[in-house]
Amino acid sequence: MSNAYPELAEAQQHWRYSPADDALAGRTILVTGAGDGIGAAAAKTFAVYGANVVLLGRTRQKLEAVFDWIEANTATEAVIVPADLEHLAADSAAALAGSIEETYGTLNGIVHNASLLGARTPVAHYPIAEWQRVLQVNVTAPFILTQALYGLLDAADDACVLNISSSVGREGRAYWGAYSVSKFALEGFSQVFADETETAGHIRVYSVNPGATRTAMRKAAYPMENPDEVPAAESHMDLFLYLMEGAKAGKTLPETGAQLDARTWMRQ
Ligand SMILES: NC(=O)c1ccc[n+]([C@@H]2O[C@H](COP(=O)([O-])OP(=O)(O)OC[C@H]3O[C@@H](n4cnc5c(N)ncnc54)[C@H](OP(=O)(O)O)[C@@H]3O)[C@@H](O)[C@H]2O)c1
Repeated sequence: MSNAYPELAEAQQHWRYSPADDALAGRTILVTGAGDGIGAAAAKTFAVYGANVVLLGRTRQKLEAVFDWIEANTATEAVIVPADLEHLAADSAAALAGSIEETYGTLNGIVHNASLLGARTPVAHYPIAEWQRVLQVNVTAPFILTQALYGLLDAADDACVLNISSSVGREGRAYWGAYSVSKFALEGFSQVFADETETAGHIRVYSVNPGATRTAMRKAAYPMENPDEVPAAESHMDLFLYLMEGAKAGKTLPETGAQLDARTWMRQ
């Protein structure tokens, strides 16, 4: 595609799914943590494929950089929502729902991606205040946002919620503390919400483990690793697009509630 930036153009050559150029046209998707890492890649990729993206994140400058790129390179309409999920409460989430409805009239997807790594410390020494911050950002904020945005998701013909998890959200590992526990909780939230919405059938909910990805969080967790040997965030975007695009002839969608791994999803 002519508006793919270099990392996206490189990744597209290895994708296992080739979406149509307008795969997400007419869709509105909220991405949390959209200023950096996997969230920024998702926001830009969704816009390249035609979605209007709501960019929520903590650092305004980073969101503005993503917004500027989208505005310069796509015909979609992004908006910026600077918000610290550590302090998200019901009233600010409700205000967000109101402004999404006013601006776009619809919401077809959420990527609960923003996350804190927190301390890498044994349970015996884990700082309690940090534990609470990590749980708030990684699992309570996705719950509050989902609750506030439920009406918009439910009103859409087809909607998709991606909860970005981790290997340590599926098997606990020493010293991963609150991060690991928060991802287990997010997996649980994903399954509960999927089960509640399954019968109505128009909201699909998945947990996605991206696996090792070249981002600031990965660098913080594995400072000695050579980043060049770690996949770019754009290499997972075929799965994100596949799920966000929804049903289409010839596609089999995973059942709602499924736990997916970005690096193995089509080989299973
Ligand atoms: N990278 C990996 O290898 C890997 C592996 C498994 C799972 N994951 C998961 O993938 C997701 C994305 O991770 P990443 O590697 O892209 O991380 P990242 O580069 O650190 O990006 C995380 C994003 O979340 C935002 N964020 C953090 N705290 C926030 C808060 N309180 N309020 C609003 N936004 C906040 C950050 O904003 P600022 O930039 O403004 O701080 C940043 O944009 C996370 O859920 C992570 O757990 C990543």
